[in-house]
Formats: sequence, structure tokens, C-alpha cells
Amino acid sequence: MGVDTGAPSVVTSPRRNLAARLSAWTSSALALRRLALASVLANVLIVVTGGAVRLTNSGLGCPTWPSCSGSSLVPTRKLGINGAIEFTNRTLTFVVGTVLLLTFIAAWRQRREARLAAVALASIPAQALLGGIVVRTDLNPWLVATHFLLSTAIIAVTLLLWWRVSEHRAVQIPSAGIVLARSTACVAGAVLVIGTVVAGSGPHAGDLKNGKVHRIHLSTSGLAQLHADAVMVLIGVTIGLLALTYALRLPTVVRQAGWVLVGVELAQGALGYTQYFLHVPALLVALHMLGACLVWLAALRLLLLVEPRAVGQSQAASSLPQAASPRTEVVARPATESGPDRSATAS
Ligand code: HEM
Repeated sequence: MGVDTGAPSVVTSPRRNLAARLSAWTSSALALRRLALASVLANVLIVVTGGAVRLTNSGLGCPTWPSCSGSSLVPTRKLGINGAIEFTNRTLTFVVGTVLLLTFIAAWRQRREARLAAVALASIPAQALLGGIVVRTDLNPWLVATHFLLSTAIIAVTLLLWWRVSEHRAVQIPSAGIVLARSTACVAGAVLVIGTVVAGSGPHAGDLKNGKVHRIHLSTSGLAQLHADAVMVLIGVTIGLLALTYALRLPTVVRQAGWVLVGVELAQGALGYTQYFLHVPALLVALHMLGACLVWLAALRLLLLVEPRAVGQSQAASSLPQAASPRTEVVARPATESGPDRSATAS
């Protein structure tokens, strides 16, 4: 026999329970930060799985779009492993879309960066549509390149969203540093663009079996040379920026971000040369695609970390805490000062 506690009995259905939990979760600032970070990672993941589709020659594993084949939404046995690989990548779009949808819901409920979250969310169906056009144009290499570059743009948007909702603080630095940080990001973008053209002229067309796929008819070795030259410029500009962070005694966090960027650039450069001389083995190309995302993220992070010192703001005035915006830390220490680093750092 049950004991009557006198409390009214509240019967909640599992569905209501779930909705209540979801509602509480999406109104938490921590959840929004985590979702925004998950959005960045999910988009990096889909770049790599998209690469796997190309590198296993599964680009036309599902020969049409939006259905997989003329008669079926999902791959049939006849389409074999390539059909399964292509379809898995298509399905992953829904996972990425769900993460971005939850991020948007949280941002909207908290009235924080909802517009940016909406742009990120809207880019997923746009990317899916572009993927469909890629299939329907038999893997046109220019569209394959655009497909990759759109992902890098989405990664940039989601990183900015994560940066803002996490309330990271920018460090005010002199204009020379800003010019170098912006140049680094621009050259990194150019390296990515040229890299996609190298890939479009190279042997990994995405589906070599039926001979349908056309390529970019430019010299692969010439393009790879141009790509490597752009990488040299990128490393040079980044080292220049790093040297400036020491010369101006910028906060440790900026120096660290500079070192991280140089590190990933050197590793990615070494990987690039290795894959080139080994005639682009698929596994190394996949790692190179992941490395490209990491270089991009590191360059953008450095860019987000700094902002121009306000016009007419003296270093002495800028040391006042009220001079800083909520997202801003000010570099206040004169370049000549010695001793431990007491200048502002951003998290
Ligand atoms: C910061 C350094 C580098 C970055 C960010 C970078 C980025 C990229 C990107 C985005 C792609 C296109 C990926 C795709 O669409 O599949 C690519 C392809 C390629 N990269 Fe790099 N790269 C770097 C360094 C290098 C270097 C130093 C070499 C040496 C020659 C190199 C050789 C190649 C080759 C051969 C391809 C074509 C691979 C294929 O056939 O699919 N990369 N790179």
C-alpha cells in the first residue's frame, strides 16, 4: 500500500520532461558556449569526412541528389561501399545541422548573437545544396573547391560566434600589429584557395572509375609551387607578427597565439611537401585537409585576439580599466618597461 504524503501528484510525460530539460539547458550560458564550440568542431569534422568521400573515389557513390539514386533515397546494395560512404557524409549534414540548430535556439533564447547563429545555421542548407550541385555536375572541380571554401567560411562564422558568446577579450595593440594580423589571415585564406585549385588539378578527382569527372587543366606541379610559395609568404608574415609581439612586449596570450600559428603552419607545410613528394597518398591528403582547417582556425584566433588601439588613446590613459570595452583588454605597459609581464592578458 502506498503512503499518502498529501502532496499533489504531478504526472509529467517523458516528452514534457525532455522539453523542459531542453528549455532549461538552452537558456544556460555555458550550454551556449559549448554548443558554439561544438559547431566549430562539427564543421571541421565534415570537411574531413567530405575529404574521405573524395579520397575513396566515392564522390558519385550516390549518383544523384537529393535522392541517392533515381529510385531510392538511400543507397542500394548495387552502389556498394562508395554509395555507403557518400550517403554517410550526406547524413552527417543532419548532425551538423542539429548542432547549429540547437546553437541558434540557445542564442535566440538568450538574446545573444542570435543573428550570427542564424547565419551559421542558414549556411548548412546552402552547403547541402551546393553539395547536391557538385554531384549533379559530375564533381566539377571548381564547385568542389567552392564547396570546401564555403566550409572554411562557415568555420570562420562559428568561431566568431564561439568567441563572442565566450566573452573572450581582445587586446588593444598598435596598428602595425593589426596590419600584420590581418595580412596573416588574408594570406592564410589565399593559401587555402590556391590549395583547392591544386587539389582540383590533381589525381584525386573523387570518382575516377567511370571517367566522367573533368579536372582543372593546369599544371599540378606549377600550382603546387605557387601554393608552397604562398605558404612561405604566410610563414614569413606570421614570424614578422611574432617578432613584433616581442618587440612591443605584447601580452603573453598574443605571443602564445603567434607561436601556435607558426607551429601549425610549419607542421602543415612539412605535411604538404611530404604528400607532394609521395604522390599524394590519400591518408596524407586527408590529414592535410584537417591541417588546413587548423591553420585557418589559428590565424582567425590571432585576428580575433587583437584590436586597434583607440585613436588618440595614450598608453597611460589606456591603462585605466574604464577605458576598456567589455571585450577589450588594453596593452598598457610601455615598450621600455622591464620586469615580469604585468600587462593585460585576454583569456
Ligand atoms: C600552411 C600550409 C598549407 C596550407 C594551409 C595548405 C592548404 C591546402 C588546402 C586547403 C588544400 C586543398 C584541400 C582540398 O581541397 O582537398 C591543399 C592541397 C594541396 N596542398 Fe597544401 N597547404 C599548405 C602547405 C602545402 C605545402 C608546403 C605543399 C607542398 C607542395 C602543399 C601541397 C599540396 C598539394 C599537393 C595539394 C593537393 C592535394 C590533392 O591532390 O588533393 N601544401 N593544401
